[in-house]
Amino acid sequence: MSLIDSVNQVIRDRRTLKPKMMADKQVDPSVIQEMLENANWAPTHGLTEPWRFSVFTGSAREKLAKFLAETYKTLTPAESFKQNKYEGMSQNAMLAPVVIAIGMKRQPSKKIPELDEIQAVACAVQNMHLTATAHGLCAFWSTNIAAISEEMARYTGLNKEDRALGLFYVGYPDQDWPTGSRQPVQDKIRWVGE
Ligand SMILES: Cc1cc2nc3c(=O)[nH]c(=O)nc-3n(C[C@H](O)[C@H](O)[C@H](O)COP(=O)(O)O)c2cc1C
Repeated sequence: MSLIDSVNQVIRDRRTLKPKMMADKQVDPSVIQEMLENANWAPTHGLTEPWRFSVFTGSAREKLAKFLAETYKTLTPAESFKQNKYEGMSQNAMLAPVVIAIGMKRQPSKKIPELDEIQAVACAVQNMHLTATAHGLCAFWSTNIAAISEEMARYTGLNKEDRALGLFYVGYPDQDWPTGSRQPVQDKIRWVGE
């Protein structure tokens, strides 16, 4: 297969799959290490390399699950609190074998705009997700109220000026590889020739 065929395949095959559809199967740490190594090669304005990752496995997921559920409860006004969401919040971390907290570390001088730093982290996550795909792994980037909270940032060792950008659940699918769909790209393009 040519390089372009491989690139096309991995990009189009990359899939989101929620933890409840992940198999009860461990992921070799060397695979996670490779995902993180490729994340580290994302583009970065001013070479700030703002991405930070905390990798939760084994029993650390239980503590994370409790933390997420309690943080959801604390941050959600009583009238919008949903018991099923509270319970789901802790189930996800137990159903995926690996959970990676995604963070953005702000440059001390703040010279590079925050938007650029967040975009760089998103590129890093895509690198990580594509690498997972090549290993037959699915993932789910979750950005619920707890996952992007200041509490989450603190929980993962970040400071006030940094940002928690969500949780990335990784696991093997317990079913056939999911299919994706997109609206035609033609509807999202303007070619400007002159
Ligand atoms: C920044 C970001 C945040 C996301 N947060 C959520 C989320 O909180 N809940 C959710 O169900 N999906 C979330 N997703 C995943 C999308 O649902 C998913 O990408 C979309 O359904 C397309 O599926 P695909 O990734 O398999 O192509 C997020 C994706 C991105 C890029």
